[in-house]
Amino acid sequence: MSASMSSLKINQHSLTRMDKQHINYFTALLGAEYVLASSHEGFEEFASDQTEDLKFNPSLVLIPANTSEVSEIMRYCNIHLLPVTVRGAGTGLAGGALATHGGIVLSMQRFNKILEIDVQNLQVTTEPGVITQVLQDAVKEKGLFYPPDPASKGSCFIGGNVSHNSGGPKAVKYGVVRDYVLNLELVLPNGEIIITGANTLKNSTGYNLTQLVVGSEGTLGVITKIVLKLIHHPQFNLLMLAPFASAEKACEAVSAVFRAGLIPSGLEFMERNAMLWSARYLDVMPFEIKEGEEAFLLIELDGNDLEAITRDVEKAAEVLCQFEAGDILLADTETQKESIWKVRRSINPAIRSFSYKKELDIVVPRANLPQVLYSVRQVGEKYGFETVSYGHAGDGNLHVNIVRGNHSDDFWKNQIPTAVGEMFEKVIQLGGLLSGEHGIGYVQKPYMELMFPEIQLELMRKIKAVFDPNNILNPGKIF
Ligand code: LAC
Ligand code: ZN
Repeated sequence: MSASMSSLKINQHSLTRMDKQHINYFTALLGAEYVLASSHEGFEEFASDQTEDLKFNPSLVLIPANTSEVSEIMRYCNIHLLPVTVRGAGTGLAGGALATHGGIVLSMQRFNKILEIDVQNLQVTTEPGVITQVLQDAVKEKGLFYPPDPASKGSCFIGGNVSHNSGGPKAVKYGVVRDYVLNLELVLPNGEIIITGANTLKNSTGYNLTQLVVGSEGTLGVITKIVLKLIHHPQFNLLMLAPFASAEKACEAVSAVFRAGLIPSGLEFMERNAMLWSARYLDVMPFEIKEGEEAFLLIELDGNDLEAITRDVEKAAEVLCQFEAGDILLADTETQKESIWKVRRSINPAIRSFSYKKELDIVVPRANLPQVLYSVRQVGEKYGFETVSYGHAGDGNLHVNIVRGNHSDDFWKNQIPTAVGEMFEKVIQLGGLLSGEHGIGYVQKPYMELMFPEIQLELMRKIKAVFDPNNILNPGKIF
């Protein structure tokens, strides 16, 4: 299926206005309260997520409460060729939840129940509209741990995390969302309901549809139930913050930490400006940033043996010193740890609040981090824009923010896409990928051709067409 064929099938008429007939159908199905037209208060929030300043108005927002309502909606939309974009909490950074083709936004906000915490099997079954942190806290009450914790964990939905295969700081030790998803209930674009696998820890039973759907950014089906694996909550953790006079040196230290045999439960990198912007945004700074400190590594070590963790902290400090780290701060109270993590988690909203920006989510093999940071900065210098970088260095995953500052519209529209293309070329040369955890969605889609040869893109398009022959579900995303 070529790109032009895929867009042909979409009912263009539906893109700009929604027929009375459709509205009546959805109102009878869901009740008027859960069918929002553009005149409805709060409708606007469904036009954007947290991606740049992009806005796409849907024709209608539908807020179903259960799987059979989702199934009915999809069956109807498939017959009438109405585009449907599934939406979680709208915290995405690649535009995956934007209704770029108009039509319907399907909000999963009423799917907000944790259905079962199975302590016998260490599993949780949840609806997709549960806030990630709420889920983490609920399982923690039973001594259990669901580790993936994106920076937006206090507001993002678990369903969005599954759709993007999110990561977060803990991924470096505990893995990404994919490593915890055991099974899904999925409504296919034609309304049929399937269970993708089973609640088992292993699966060599045919193609693994569960894992195909994880990270598919809402293009293959609507996730209505999720079964996640849990582990025991580690009892202790220690947090250290190390300043460096050189960002490159900080990046070099990252892979050395692992080569020393340590497995931190978080290893984050932050450029000086990322920290300063976040502190300005929060209006507090729980530690001092000294003159000449250009970058920081935030390292968390956890486990059940406090003495062993303390030994690991000392070992990590030795490694960091080999890379000329300055005075290392060891956070010793829970309050201090939380306030440092808060500064880290607030970097993205901070940059967003001060300037329009374009964000990349590049990932390279860990030891290539110094080269990728150098390359990114070089492109910035060549084009004359500022970048602010931070991210999950332990995973080789860097969030590069291109700050708009005073650049003109013309510069932003015409030069930035070329510069971004050059950055991605470098990332690919260094063995990396366009996105480590934010997804491709709408904004990184133009660069997929740099990454994959046509034969691979065609395979992906064909998989999409098998699930969604009419291309009604989140059309225009990924490729
Ligand atoms: C973070 C988000 C932006 O790591 O992924 O802060
Ligand atoms: Zn991140």
